[in-house]
Amino acid sequence: MISQTGQRPDAGAAPVDPEALAQSLRPFGESRMLPGEAYTSHAVLDWERRHFFDEGWSCAGVSALLSSPGDQRAEALGSAGVLLVRGGDGAVRAFANACRHRNHELLPCGAGGVNRSFVSCPYHAWSYRLDGSLRRAPGFDDAAGFDTSAHGLVELACVEWHGIVFVNPSGTAGDFSAHVAGLADHVAPYEIARLATRGHHGYVVGANWKVLVENYQECYHCPVIHPELCAASPPRSGKNHPDPAGAWAEGWMELREGFETMSLDGRSSASPLRGLDGFRRRIVDYVVIFPNLLVSLHPDYVMTHVLTPVAPDRTRVVCEWHFAPEDAGPDGFDPSFAVDFWDVTNRQDWSACEAVQRGLSNPLALPGPLSREEDGVYQFVTMVASGYAGRTPQPARVSAARRLTGPQTTAAALAGAGSAAVARATSDAGKG
Ligand code: FES
Ligand SMILES: [Fe+2]
Repeated sequence: MISQTGQRPDAGAAPVDPEALAQSLRPFGESRMLPGEAYTSHAVLDWERRHFFDEGWSCAGVSALLSSPGDQRAEALGSAGVLLVRGGDGAVRAFANACRHRNHELLPCGAGGVNRSFVSCPYHAWSYRLDGSLRRAPGFDDAAGFDTSAHGLVELACVEWHGIVFVNPSGTAGDFSAHVAGLADHVAPYEIARLATRGHHGYVVGANWKVLVENYQECYHCPVIHPELCAASPPRSGKNHPDPAGAWAEGWMELREGFETMSLDGRSSASPLRGLDGFRRRIVDYVVIFPNLLVSLHPDYVMTHVLTPVAPDRTRVVCEWHFAPEDAGPDGFDPSFAVDFWDVTNRQDWSACEAVQRGLSNPLALPGPLSREEDGVYQFVTMVASGYAGRTPQPARVSAARRLTGPQTTAAALAGAGSAAVARATSDAGKG
């Protein structure tokens, strides 16, 4: 539960220099990046796993991977292994990925399986119904005092939100709706829950997970390292949301004239998603949901990055591309226009992130300032820093005076759908 002051009741502060943290929380334009130990220390990563991933809501993947009753999947999440199961009632449930006999994993993390009726342990063949209750424990039928009802899988708090699954292993994070407050209207038109996953890349990046999110939050670097992206989308187009109500951040960018989508030649093999208005057909909307999900909303597809910290200097990334089912049928659909574009761009980003990590590992490294094009980085850094200080992670507001552009907000721009003039009237950086 969260107190009214936003203080988490049992949240000790992170093992990070408090003076440096205060610098990170200063107003935009005066703040500094997080101190080096935030990116290099095992103690900080342990703290983050416990407080951000175990005690908070974090993303366990898209629900397209669990499209039918009986679909099962295991994921590493914070310090927990989580088993996701879609039940006969259509609901996705999350369980601790540990058998109630002698705790064998039910599935290896990262693996999926299908069984329409039960979950089976591969060690001594205990089995569980899709709702987690114990179905069969061989040899225990006549065991004195054995209570079947007391040996179901350990169920975890789980929410399926617009086709994305979020889990809170500790059960103490509070209401999920507060985590994403104000964001649903931006995501809903893309109908992620009905999309079909047709592209998948796994990466292991030699950088701290936060370096990847920070990199996603700005396009200050785009003219330097992303020629393909800049050909498709002007790097200083669009605008970041100045004041998200929950633990998220968002910025959009325009497509250049002649580009249907983000692809190497500007062409798309899919059609615009059916729920989008004229404005959304000409932008890409980049969303971070704290701590570990990046959602890139294109006119004709949705791309997700789910980040899993492996070590202070190592992050596993699952990048997936999701298309309208009427386009992405089993026959002949080729997702490479989207996958190839972003694989090129992802690798450019990972290379930069790995070089940042090497610099951060230098004992002489100092936290740097943020440019006016890095307001999205400021929002993420202040989410992390407020969490480190023991509060609910929340982005600090970016004051209008500090932003590059006039008073037009993302929400207002999106409300004024169809107006290319709105897009042209703003020039703040989005993402890269
Ligand atoms: S550990 Fe699962 S059946 Fe023994
Ligand atoms: Fe980039």
